[in-house]
Amino acid sequence: MKDNLILTGFMGSGKTTVGIRLSYQMKRPLIDTDKWIEQKQKMSVSEIFATCGEDAFRRMETQCLKYLIETVRHHIISVGGGLPMRQENQGLLRELGKVVYLKATPREIYERLKGDTSRPLLQVTNPQEEIGRLLALRSPVYEACADVVMEVSGKSFDEIVEQIINS
Ligand code: S3P
Repeated sequence: MKDNLILTGFMGSGKTTVGIRLSYQMKRPLIDTDKWIEQKQKMSVSEIFATCGEDAFRRMETQCLKYLIETVRHHIISVGGGLPMRQENQGLLRELGKVVYLKATPREIYERLKGDTSRPLLQVTNPQEEIGRLLALRSPVYEACADVVMEVSGKSFDEIVEQIINS
């Protein structure tokens, strides 16, 4: 297993902010799989979903993990919320490093993502219902993939970062 620290969790669970802070405090470079894919494809995630479809995006996530396994050590890696759902990716995540699941409640996720237009899966009539549905499907997988389950609800980013560093 590589010595990277990986952040997983649903959209809006704070992976990006926690990743930036961890990167700063632990003096480790940060990689975000969505950004890696966007740079490689020269398209936003929304454009990739619209032009290539979700399946193609999921294959790009797997490609990204395989590349990272070969190339990075001692990094903080924040991964897209749906990435752990592909079975192949679960083994790859374990190979890549220590997996920390940022576990947030559906209410908190909804409050954070209200009005967001950058997540194609939530551009539906009732995003609150969709968050509940997806989270119910995904939670067991997030939990099963995690070395550490970090409850984030009601905690400040400082607290979360400190607890991860000490985990
Ligand atoms: C997705 C989460 C997004 C992005 C894409 C699909 C998902 O990443 O990969 O919109 O399926 O949950 P974030 O979790 O960083 O928002």
